[in-house]
Amino acid sequence: GLVDKIKEAGELVLLTNAQFPPYEYLGDDNQPTGVDIEIAQKIADELGVKLTVVDMDFDGLVPALNGGKGDFIAAGYTITEERQQSVDFSDEYATSNQMVIVTKDDPKVAGATVEDLAGKTIGVQLGTTGDLFVSDEVEGATVKQYKSAIEAGMDLANGKLDAVVVDKLPAQSIVANNDSLTVYDDVLTTEQYAMAVRKGESDDLLEVINKVLADMKGDIQDLTQKHFDQYS
Ligand code: ARG
Repeated sequence: GLVDKIKEAGELVLLTNAQFPPYEYLGDDNQPTGVDIEIAQKIADELGVKLTVVDMDFDGLVPALNGGKGDFIAAGYTITEERQQSVDFSDEYATSNQMVIVTKDDPKVAGATVEDLAGKTIGVQLGTTGDLFVSDEVEGATVKQYKSAIEAGMDLANGKLDAVVVDKLPAQSIVANNDSLTVYDDVLTTEQYAMAVRKGESDDLLEVINKVLADMKGDIQDLTQKHFDQYS
């Protein structure tokens, strides 16, 4: 099975996109850190192997997984029916929402509803659930797809966008680092995060992941707060 192969290789390879604080971001040493990285380290420890983190574009994660470039994805990755066609998901370990970031002075969007966003120019991270939501549900929006929501936040601050749609804690992290931005309290969606493995051939790894997630359940809240504070 896959676990035997990982043990033989002596390494567990995590695929992520480290532009999503507090779940994964580049720390002071420019190395990926965050909630998902710490959970992944525990999974590697459980297997008795070293963890290798591959930081890549978000929209390349599933192709990389299915091309054998890594063993699993941990990326604040939302469970969706469409994704379930191409990967297997672990148990969920966090709940999130899509939220709307605007500028504090003269916000170009009046609130966090689909109607408020209609016809606006909205920044998202390419391939995310925020991207899909705005592209599919918001009428007449001009969707600008960025490599990261952090970059989209900068363009919003520079007046190039009317709003950015992104997951809750990354939204709050972006706003905490930019005085001119704020995030509406109302939410667009509710989503669950899980880790993803290659479909139909990773059941033994999935078992280990789910065991570690269950063991860590009580710690994830604190871990999340720690990384939120560290980034902000
Ligand atoms: N939760 C959203 C999704 O699954 C966004 C995830 C972005 N993650 C990242 N590491 N950049 O589509």
